[in-house]
Amino acid sequence: MAWWKESVVYQIYPRSFKDSNGDGIGDLKGITSKIEYLRKLGIDVIWLSPIYKSPNDDNGYDISDYQTIMDEFGTMKDFDELLETAHQNGIKIMMDLVVNHSSDEHSWFVESKSSKDNIKRDWYIWKPGKNGNEPTNWEASFKGSTWEYDETTGEYYLHLFSKKQPDLNWENPSLRREIYNMMTWWLDKGIDGFRMDVINFISKDTRYPEGEIIEGKKYGNGSKYYMNGPRIHEFLQEMNKEVLSKYDIITVGETPGVTPDEAKLYTGHNRNELNMVFQFEHMGLGDGSEGKWSNQPWKLSDLKQTLTRWQKGLEDDGWNSLYWNNHDQPRVVSRFGNDQEYRVVSAKMLATCLHMLQGTPYIYQGEEIGMTNVSFESLDQYKDIETLNAYNELVSGHRLSKEEMMKAIHDRGRDNARTPIHWDGTSNAGFTTGTPWIEVNPNYKEVNVERSIKDKGSIFYFYQKLIRLRKEHEIIVYGRYDLILENDEQIYAYTRSLNEEKLLVICNFSLESPKFTLPEGIEYTSSKLLISNYEVIDDETFTDFVMKPYEARVYKLI
Ligand code: NOJ
Repeated sequence: MAWWKESVVYQIYPRSFKDSNGDGIGDLKGITSKIEYLRKLGIDVIWLSPIYKSPNDDNGYDISDYQTIMDEFGTMKDFDELLETAHQNGIKIMMDLVVNHSSDEHSWFVESKSSKDNIKRDWYIWKPGKNGNEPTNWEASFKGSTWEYDETTGEYYLHLFSKKQPDLNWENPSLRREIYNMMTWWLDKGIDGFRMDVINFISKDTRYPEGEIIEGKKYGNGSKYYMNGPRIHEFLQEMNKEVLSKYDIITVGETPGVTPDEAKLYTGHNRNELNMVFQFEHMGLGDGSEGKWSNQPWKLSDLKQTLTRWQKGLEDDGWNSLYWNNHDQPRVVSRFGNDQEYRVVSAKMLATCLHMLQGTPYIYQGEEIGMTNVSFESLDQYKDIETLNAYNELVSGHRLSKEEMMKAIHDRGRDNARTPIHWDGTSNAGFTTGTPWIEVNPNYKEVNVERSIKDKGSIFYFYQKLIRLRKEHEIIVYGRYDLILENDEQIYAYTRSLNEEKLLVICNFSLESPKFTLPEGIEYTSSKLLISNYEVIDDETFTDFVMKPYEARVYKLI
């Protein structure tokens, strides 16, 4: 048992949360002004996306000083006030730790590139070209090569993301020491944990082999040479020994491409690495030949199979994180629910389905009021580097038509999650008195915090109840998960079991009215409805009933 297993985390993307000074960009004072709201919701921990000094090539995921606050977000004094206010309200703060790469404007990189014999040269990954080409054929996550030529010394540096995000060289012990010191400095300030950005990318295969080329593509896929690389567990165990083990904190690693077996190595009880990881298998549903940019229809049975593999895979050792949304993913009510007529019920159904699984749930800002995707008409309205680079490469390379790409951006682009939070129905949704850095979703008059707080039947109060139930029923945290009705394409139903108790979770993912029938073998003598998104009449049966569109019910069986 552990407090971080019993907690609910709320992710804040500061740029889009709340602006306090009218410059159109969310900031720390804005967050402090909303702690009361988060306390009302009932969350335990805030995960703060990066707030450090940054030229914002990738909205703060390119850090130029790990111990200074980004100008747009405020000052260190503002941070201290935020931390204190959060703690006074019983809320912990988990910081984003981005140490696979820094910004190219970080003084370490400026030194590193200045000459081959600079003392920080080896803090980044430099290689000479190969036959007049880049050192390997790897493709960067934001398109193009992972290598950028630098004229000063005539060598290339590695960047798995944008060329303004050079990868740090974890092979170098003094770089590692510096990072551990920086982490210790933050922890001594009183922060409560770290979310670690693409942490399973920090150990590279130092032979730098060529990646596999998929037909018709210019670059190869080098991921198997940097995902879960040769020294990854050694590095994390060292970090744990030097830093993490000295504090009672929460840690979660962002780990694209991990399987449940690998996740056990990162999160297993005796491994001394991390508490949990973010896996991506359920987020990849519908990916086509161009990944998320050729979005395909998805099947509920695939979602169930994936989540079940993770639930069962980590049930004895390790721990799951549970999420539908973050700042890189589209809004779940648009993706797996219905953002039109059934927006409210389907958002509640999705929340039920996720929060009743075993693991630590994460709520992404705006999810608790059912914010939806945005369909901006013009590319100029988009700000995200990943989206803009992908558009250029895929459309000019004739791999997708403009229409196909715009549709993909609407369905899966990262800016869906990054439009400002709707606080009320006034101009700019109460996010800023200035001009927001990215446009507000036009549906803010209907979907906003003020309305949600006034309406007792809102998504907000439903989340509040889910969080409260977690505190009241140990089975929600610790119960064993078992899938029922495996092949049903409309209903996702499962049980949780702890000692003599069971939970029965029934979620209709469709617009239709399928019939739910309780499979044989689930024994109980009494039942109690814990939560539902439609009214259920007291003596109504649940062993056999016709479900309403997007209906969800949770029963406790004893
Ligand atoms: C993962 C982060 O979540 C994403 O926003 C960022 O662009 C990349 N890592 C690079 O830091």
